Amino acid sequence: MPTSAVSLADDLIRRLDNHTARPAVIGLGYVGLPLAVELASAGLDVVSIDVDASKVARLAGGESYIPDVPSAKVAQLVRAGKLRATTDFSVLAAADTINICVPTPLRKTRDPDLSYVVGAVEQVARHLRPGHLVILESTTYPGTTEEVLLPMLQAGGLRAGGDFFLAFSPERVDPGNPRWHTGNIPKVVGGIDDVSTRVAAALYRQFSAQIVPVSSAKVAEMVKLLENTFRAVNIGMANELALMCRELGVDVWEVIDAAATKPFGFMPFYPGPGLGGHCIPIDPFYLSWKARQTGFESRFIELAGHVNATMPRYVVERVAEALNTVGKPLMGMRVHLFGMAYKPDVDDVRESPAIDVTRLLQRRGATVTFSDPHVARVDDHGLTLERVGPEAAMAAGYDCAVITTDHAAFDYARIVESSPLIVDTRNALKGRAGAHIFRL
Ligand SMILES: NC(=O)c1ccc[n+]([C@@H]2O[C@H](COP(=O)([O-])OP(=O)(O)OC[C@H]3O[C@@H](n4cnc5c(N)ncnc54)[C@H](O)[C@@H]3O)[C@@H](O)[C@H]2O)c1
Repeated sequence: MPTSAVSLADDLIRRLDNHTARPAVIGLGYVGLPLAVELASAGLDVVSIDVDASKVARLAGGESYIPDVPSAKVAQLVRAGKLRATTDFSVLAAADTINICVPTPLRKTRDPDLSYVVGAVEQVARHLRPGHLVILESTTYPGTTEEVLLPMLQAGGLRAGGDFFLAFSPERVDPGNPRWHTGNIPKVVGGIDDVSTRVAAALYRQFSAQIVPVSSAKVAEMVKLLENTFRAVNIGMANELALMCRELGVDVWEVIDAAATKPFGFMPFYPGPGLGGHCIPIDPFYLSWKARQTGFESRFIELAGHVNATMPRYVVERVAEALNTVGKPLMGMRVHLFGMAYKPDVDDVRESPAIDVTRLLQRRGATVTFSDPHVARVDDHGLTLERVGPEAAMAAGYDCAVITTDHAAFDYARIVESSPLIVDTRNALKGRAGAHIFRL
C-alpha cells in the first residue's frame, strides 16, 4: 500500500475520532435517516442528501417521517447545526465519508434493480476526491461493491485503496423494534482492502459498540443475504407447516409455542398472510439471481419464495370458507382488513401481503375496507384505498374481518365482539375462542 494511502487513512481516522470529519449520507429512508441521526448524535457534522425534495424540506424543518426517529431529536440536531439535509449533491466534495442507503428493489422479472445505486454512485464519482471513504449500505448481491461501484468510482483516474477507500456494510435495522436499533446492532464491515475496512470501522465506531470486520466487501454483502434468506426460508417452512397442520387438524400456533420452550437448537418462526417489507421478500432473489449467473440453482430460496407467495391466496380461501359456514358467497361481501402495514406497529406497506389479499378479494367480487392506526392510505399500482377507523367500520358493518397485521393498538376484544366472522392470520386472538373465529 502506498505511504500516501496510509497517511490519508490515518488522517481520516484521526478526524473521525476527534469529530472533525464530515460524513455524508445519501438516501434518507428507513436506513439512511437513522444512520445520519446516529452520526450527528455522536457529535459529527452530517450532511444528508435525498432526491426527494419533500423529505429534505421536512428534515430541514426539524421533522422526522420515520416512526423510530423522533422529530424532537431531528429538530435538536438541525438546530445545533449537526444535521443538514439537501438535494444538492455538490456538498459531497466537502464531505469526508459517504454512505449510500438507496433502495435496491427487484424488477418485474425478479432481477436486481440497481438503478438507484448506480444513480447515487454517478453523483459520488462526479465529486470523488483523494481521501474519500465510500460505503454502500444498500442490500445487494455479493460482488456489487467490486463489480459495479469500484469501476464507476475509478473511471475518473483515482485508485481505490490508494486515493480513496471503499467498503460495504450491511444495514440490519428492524423498524419498529423497541430493543434493537442502528446504534446498538453490531455492524459488519468489509472493505475492498484492509485499509478500507479499517477506515470504515473507524466511522462506525463513533456510534456502534460492536464492529465486526470481515475479509472483503463480498463477504459483507453475503452476510446480509444469509441473514435475510435464513428468515425467508424459515418463514416459508412455518407457512408450509401451517397448511400441513390444518390438514392434520393440529393448531400450528400451539405447536410452535410449545416447541419454542426448547432451550437450545430451536428458534420460532411464525406463519402469516405472506412476506412483506423491503427486505425478506426481495433480498433472497438478489442472491439467487447472482448464483444463477454461475449456473447454480438456489433451491431453498425458490421453494420458500413459492410457499410464501401462495399465502395471500390461502388467506382469501380461508375468508371464503368462513363465509361459507354462514351460507354466504365471497362475491358481493364486505370484508374489512385490520392492518395494512406488513408487520406490527410500523407504517410501511411496501410488499405488504395485505395489499395482495385486498386485490385477490376484490378480484373475487368482495368490497374491501381497512383500518390501520399507522397507515392512512394505500396507493399501490392502481389500488387506492383510504382507511376507515375501526369503530366506524364496525358501526357500518361488514360480513367478515381479517386480521392481517397484529398491531398493538387494535382493541381485539372489541373486534371479537363486533365482527360476525374473523379470519386471524397472525394469532392475534390467541386464547380467545368463538365459533366465528377462523385461524390461518
Ligand atoms: N427498511 C429496512 O428495514 C431495511 C433494513 C436493512 C436494509 N435495508 C436496505 O437498505 C436500503 C434502503 O432501504 P430503505 O428502507 O431505507 O429505503 P427507503 O425507500 O426508505 O429510502 C431510500 C431513500 O433513498 C432516496 N433515493 C433514491 N434514489 C436516490 C439517489 N439516487 N440519490 C439520493 N437519494 C435517493 C429515496 O428518495 C428514499 O428517501 C435498501 O437496499 C434496503 O434493502 C432496508
